[in-house]
Amino acid sequence: MVEDLEKILDDISNIEQMANDSSIDHSRAEDTVAKRVFEIYKPLIHEMKREPVRDPRRIVDILRNEYKLLVDERLVYLVVAAFLAGRPVLFEGPPGTGKTEIGEALLTIWSGKPAFIIPCSENYDEYRVVGDFHPLMAIKYGFNELSFIPRPLLAAIILDAGVLVDEIRRSSEELQNLLLDIVDKRRIIIPELRRIVKASGEGFQLIFTSNPEDYAQGELSDAFLRRVVRIPFNYPPPDVELKIVKLRYDVDIEIEDSLIRKAIEVVNVLRKRAAYKPGPSDTVLWLRLAGRIAKLRNHKSVELKDLVDAATVILYKRIGEEEIVDEAIQNTL
Ligand SMILES: Nc1ncnc2c1ncn2[C@@H]1O[C@H](COP(=O)(O)OP(=O)(O)OP(=O)(O)O)[C@@H](O)[C@H]1O
Ligand SMILES: [Mg+2]
Repeated sequence: MVEDLEKILDDISNIEQMANDSSIDHSRAEDTVAKRVFEIYKPLIHEMKREPVRDPRRIVDILRNEYKLLVDERLVYLVVAAFLAGRPVLFEGPPGTGKTEIGEALLTIWSGKPAFIIPCSENYDEYRVVGDFHPLMAIKYGFNELSFIPRPLLAAIILDAGVLVDEIRRSSEELQNLLLDIVDKRRIIIPELRRIVKASGEGFQLIFTSNPEDYAQGELSDAFLRRVVRIPFNYPPPDVELKIVKLRYDVDIEIEDSLIRKAIEVVNVLRKRAAYKPGPSDTVLWLRLAGRIAKLRNHKSVELKDLVDAATVILYKRIGEEEIVDEAIQNTL
């Protein structure tokens, strides 16, 4: 289908004319596709539905209290402003800095419904994000709305929910262009069904994530970058990382700030010197493991020994880098 993109785009004008043609009954097809979306996703939506939140300060509080995510108020203001301006957002930065989790949580809080996630890979195409035809159903009913299976992007636009497009650099340029076209015009065209599905509210928003330094990453075109609000992510300063670790620490055994600071010092050395750069996600897991080890050893609080024992499983990630890790641990802990 991707190679047919040009043809599909050519079809768009015809379909738009069709949409304005009152002699065609669009409502029946619309009902069938929408009904299927509700059938598939209703339990999920029902479980999590809540009032959409638009006030950035309240969003910051919810992120911290309910999602255990420490997010700068400025970032939330930028995202809210982008959504209000009808622009998608691109979170770009190193691994483990919270891009995916923060993106998903923001979309969910904004729309009041669980966000859809599209994990990109090279062969992710229009069929897998918009919808495709069930082969057996298509034999039985033909290629029409009865055999059509809606996928996440179409479901999100119908349900007025957000979409997190994870690792956008791993997708094809065709998919990137298709996504931008959909966001720009806030509608999805399904040529095979002669259908145009329009967004009904402001809940339908997109956040892309990307890590330009990860392996096998493609370039994002200027056209793509021009249309998104790009928000860079970076490793947090030590004081903020300390707060993140404490917010995420889930063991009922005491741990002193000074010990957490030591772990943060080690990861900061490795971020400068090693090829595998631990993110805050690694620091969080390191301290959680150290807490559990301390508990298993019946310690009163986490000791340096517990921290050291948990260190290598978190920090030895690339073969040949053990020496750099050992040195950072010995010099700091
Ligand atoms: N600001 C933050 N608040 C709370 N936890 C954070 C924060 N930043 C990072 N973390 C930690 O990192 C984890 C989330 O990492 P996430 O997978 O979202 O990062 P990412 O930037 O998408 O990484 P990758 O590029 O590898 O996909 C959380 O579970 C938590 O442990
Ligand atoms: Mg991610």
